[in-house]
Amino acid sequence: MEKRELLYEGKAKKLWLTDDENILIAEFKDDLTAFNAEKKGSEQGKGALNCKISTELFALLEKNGVKTHLIETLDDNNQLVKKVDIIAIEVVVRNTATGSLSKRLGVEDGKVLPFTLVEFYLKDDDLNDPIICENHCMLLELVDDRDKLDILKQKGLQINRLLKEFFEERRLNLVDFKVEFGIDSEGEIILSDEISPDSCRFWDMDSGEKLDKDRFRQNLGNVKVAYEEVLKRILGDKS
Ligand SMILES: Nc1ncnc2c1ncn2[C@@H]1O[C@H](COP(=O)(O)OP(=O)(O)O)[C@@H](O)[C@H]1O
Ligand SMILES: [Mg+2]
Repeated sequence: MEKRELLYEGKAKKLWLTDDENILIAEFKDDLTAFNAEKKGSEQGKGALNCKISTELFALLEKNGVKTHLIETLDDNNQLVKKVDIIAIEVVVRNTATGSLSKRLGVEDGKVLPFTLVEFYLKDDDLNDPIICENHCMLLELVDDRDKLDILKQKGLQINRLLKEFFEERRLNLVDFKVEFGIDSEGEIILSDEISPDSCRFWDMDSGEKLDKDRFRQNLGNVKVAYEEVLKRILGDKS
């Protein structure tokens, strides 16, 4: 598959057109951003780590019945993916309170939630990705049918069940994560974008150490070491 023109450059990835109109190449960059790109940085090797981590997690999800955009991982930084129309809703799934949930609503940081919380945020950097309710999703025509919101929620919960258990076996607490979905050429809603320490929070179950982008957000240092540790846990005996 041939890499053609650049379709879009985001904060963490570049999307390239290919000689097949339904297929893109997603290239993972070393750039790191936080607080809607107010804070910027770069960590050599971060793109390759996220590419590998996302590859492993998408493969795990596919194996368990979650359809994803991933076709094949080409090399350290590049994935062949199905081109989708991204649904402009960031689906956030939370097991433990932290971050904006604690800040906005005063839920104690680190509190294990009595049930898995699914939230929708508008994917719009200019508006600072605000939290939205189902009626906002309909009002803004982010989906054409209310049932699709239920599908997003159910898929978020399914992904959470699979990943939470997988990481528990590796002594990592999956605190929360963000996923994006898109509509493929057959009209099906599939998991897209990436799942990595940029988009998840992982806390070591023994030491409590943060092993995700919060190390960058909060200037905790050792960002790359943390991402490497997540990959190591994922690979387990495979590494
Ligand atoms: N399979 C896909 N088809 C089309 N767009 C995609 C696909 N997967 C991810 N995207 C989009 O690619 C863009 C680039 O990724 P990223 O750098 O993470 O962007 P952002 O700065 O918006 O977070 C995002 O807008 C994401 O929604
Ligand atoms: Mg992104």
